[in-house]
Amino acid sequence: MLRRINWLALLLLTLSPAIVAEAQTLRDAADARGLHIGAAVNMNPFRNEPIYSQTLGREFNMLVAENAMKFDALHPAQNTFNFTDADALVAFAEANNMAVRGHNLVWHSQIPGWLTGGNFTRDQVIAIMRDHIMTVVGRYRGRIAAWDVVNEAVSDNNGQLRTDSFWHQKIGPEYIAMAFQFAHEADPDAKLYYNDYSAEGSGVKSDAVFNLVSGLVNQGVPINGVGWQMHQINPFRIQQAHRTNAQRLASIGLEVSITEMDVRISLPTTQQELDEQALAYRDVVEFCLSQPNVKTLVTWGFTDKFSWIPGFFSGFGDALIFDMNYQPKPAYTAMLSALGGGTGPPPVPTGLTATAGNAQVQLSWNASTGATGYNVKRATTSGGPYTTVATVTSTSFTNTGLTNGTTFFYVVSATNANGESANSSQVSATPLAADFTLSANPSSLTINRGASGTSAITITRSGGFSSSVAFSASGLPSGVTAAFNPASTTGTSSTLTLTASTTAATGMVSVTVTGTGGGLTRATTLVLTVNPAPDFTLSANPSSLTVNQGASAASTLSITRAGGFTSSVAFSATGLPSGVTASFNPTSTTGTSSTATFTASSAATLGSANVTITATGGGLTRTIVIFLTVSGGGGTGGVTITPAINANGPWFNEEVIQLSNTGTITALSVTIVIQRTTGVGFNGQYNTVGGQILQSNTVTTATITYQFTLAPGQTLGMGTNRTFAAQTSGAGTIHPTSGDTYTVTYTTGGVSFTQTGHF
Ligand code: XIL
Repeated sequence: MLRRINWLALLLLTLSPAIVAEAQTLRDAADARGLHIGAAVNMNPFRNEPIYSQTLGREFNMLVAENAMKFDALHPAQNTFNFTDADALVAFAEANNMAVRGHNLVWHSQIPGWLTGGNFTRDQVIAIMRDHIMTVVGRYRGRIAAWDVVNEAVSDNNGQLRTDSFWHQKIGPEYIAMAFQFAHEADPDAKLYYNDYSAEGSGVKSDAVFNLVSGLVNQGVPINGVGWQMHQINPFRIQQAHRTNAQRLASIGLEVSITEMDVRISLPTTQQELDEQALAYRDVVEFCLSQPNVKTLVTWGFTDKFSWIPGFFSGFGDALIFDMNYQPKPAYTAMLSALGGGTGPPPVPTGLTATAGNAQVQLSWNASTGATGYNVKRATTSGGPYTTVATVTSTSFTNTGLTNGTTFFYVVSATNANGESANSSQVSATPLAADFTLSANPSSLTINRGASGTSAITITRSGGFSSSVAFSASGLPSGVTAAFNPASTTGTSSTLTLTASTTAATGMVSVTVTGTGGGLTRATTLVLTVNPAPDFTLSANPSSLTVNQGASAASTLSITRAGGFTSSVAFSATGLPSGVTASFNPTSTTGTSSTATFTASSAATLGSANVTITATGGGLTRTIVIFLTVSGGGGTGGVTITPAINANGPWFNEEVIQLSNTGTITALSVTIVIQRTTGVGFNGQYNTVGGQILQSNTVTTATITYQFTLAPGQTLGMGTNRTFAAQTSGAGTIHPTSGDTYTVTYTTGGVSFTQTGHF
C-alpha cells in the first residue's frame, strides 16, 4: 500500500507540482511527499465519537494504538489474549488505506499483574515473552508495518539500561536482543524499532540509545530503527543536534520514526503560544522531509480533547494539532503548508513588532508559510475594531501620516488564494515628533580640587530623531573644565568628565549640559560641588600659656579637616624650654582634637619660648606655635627649705635650716633669728656647704641673729639637705622655739625667691 502511495507521489511531483499544492488534508499532502503521518488512537472516542474516527481517517495515513496493543491490554491473563480493540484498529486502518505501527511489545510499564506477580523463573519469563511476541506479531504478520519492539529501556540520565524494568530484572540485559529476535521470527517483513523519549537530540540519553542500538546492529540483531517519542514542551524547535543524531543513526543503517509527538503548552494557552507550537510541528515535518532516514511522523493523539498530557503533566495541555472541537490549530496549518498542501489560509503571522517614529510607525513580522500577502490593520483602542490600512506582499510596512502622541494598535493577517488567517498578536506604538531629551546620571557630582568625576549623559531619542547631538557645558566654576566623550554622537550616550584644578573655586553650582543636533537644543542640569583637596589645619587654644615650675598647663589642639581628609594625625612638640615636657592626649587621632599638656619641672628654665606643635598625617604636616612661658610665680625655684630643731635641752640648743636645691643657686642668704630667753646666748654656727658661705652673727638683748651668705660671684650647685645651724647655749627652762624665725633668700634660674618660717 505504502509503496503505491509513494510511487503516486513521485509521479505527481514529477508531472505537476501545482497539483500537489492543492492537497487539502494532511494525509494527502503527506502521501504526496512520501511521508507517513500518523496518530495514536484512543479507543473510547474511536468507538463513540464519529467525528474522531472521521478526522483520523481523513487526515492520517497511519495509526497506532495509544494503549490497545500494550501487553496488559492484549494479554490480560497468562493464557488469555484479547484482540478486540487491536483488531478493530487494524481493520479500520485497512479499510481506510492506513498503515499501522505496533506499540509496543516489551516495556516496563503497562504489563499485567499475573506476569509481574507470577514468580516465574528466567526461562519461564523468556518463554512468556517469546509466546507473547509470537502471538501478537504473528497475528498481524504483513499488516503492521513497524513494531516498537522494546520501549524505554534506557535510564533517564546515567547512560545505563533501566535496571528497575521487570524484563531486565528477570532476564538481564539480553532481553532486548531476544525481543528483537522473536519479533523478527514472527514477522520477517515488519520494521523493528527501539522506541524512547528524551533521546532525540544530543545528550547522555541520546548517546546511550545510540550505543545500545549500535551494539545491537553490531551483534546482528534484527533492528531497523529508533523511535523518537518527541514529547516536547512549547516552545520547541528542531536543532542541528537532531539532524546530527538522525545522521549518525543513518550511518549505522537505522531509520528514525517520530513516534509520539506532542508539544505541550503551559495553560492557559495564548495565541502566541499556538503560533510557537506551529513552528515546532512545522520544523518536525521539514525535518522528516529533509532527512532521508526519517519518513514517519506520528503524533500522540490528534485532538486536544483526547490527550494524555493534562492527566500526566499538571498545568499543561493543548499539545496536539486539532483543538477540542476538532478544528485545525496553527500547528495543523503549518504542517500542511510545510508538506506543500493546504486549502486553508496561511498561518497567522508571528513576531509582529512596531517601532514608533515621527508621525509614523514601522511594522515588521515573520513570513507566514504560503502567504501571498498581508493585511495590516490598525485601531486606536486596544483590541479593535481594526481598520485595514495596507495590504502588502512584504513582511514590513511603515504606516505614515499619523498623529504624534496617539497610541496606535496593530495586527497583521496573512492571506493567500484560500483566504485570510486570523489576526496576529497585537502590538502598539505611539508616534512622537522627532526630538530628544538629555539626562545625566548621576545628576549631582562632588569632586575635590585636583581631581575629576564623571556623569553618564543619556540621549533619549523619540520620533525617529537620528541626528548627531553635540555636547557643551556651561555654568562651570572657575578652575573646572568639562570634557565629553564622545563630544558628539548619533548614539544615545556620552560621558561627561569634570576636572577641578587645585585652585578651582569650591562650593556648589548648577552646571548646564547642552546637546544640540538636528536644529534642536536640549539641556539637563547637574549639581556640581567642588570640595577642597584633603587637608587639615591646626589651632591651639590657648595659643599662649604660662606654666609654673613644678606644675603643668594645657592647651586644646583642634584639627580642622577638609576635602574628605580622614587620616590619623600624630602630634609632637619642639622648642620646649629645658625642664619642660609636652604630652598629647591622644597622641594621634582620626578625630578633631587632642590636649597638649606642658609640664615644667621645678627647675625648668624660666622665661618664654615659642614651642612648635607638629601634626602629621596622610602625608601632610601642619604646625602651630604656642607661646609658652615658664614662671616661678608661687613656686620655690626648686629649692626646699626644711627647719629642724636638733636639740632643745636646757643646756644646749641647735636649730637648723636644711636646704635642697635642684638648680644652681647664684645668690643665697640664710638668716636665723633666735629669741634671747633666760640664760640663752650665742654658742656657735656652722654649715655643711663649706667655704663659699660667709657666716656671721649679731647678738642683741632680745635676739641672736645668725647669717649665712653666698659671696658675690659664688654659686651653689645642686645638692640635698645642706645644713645651716644656729647653736645656742644656756641653762634654765626649755626654750620656746616657735618664736625663732628664719628667712632664706636665694636666686635660681635668674629669679629671686624668699622662704620664711619659724621653728
Ligand atoms: C501513555 C498513554 O497515552 C496513556 O493513555 C497511558 O495511560 C500511559 O501511556 N510513552 C509511551 C506511550 O511509549 O505508550 C505512553 O502512552 C506515553 C509515553
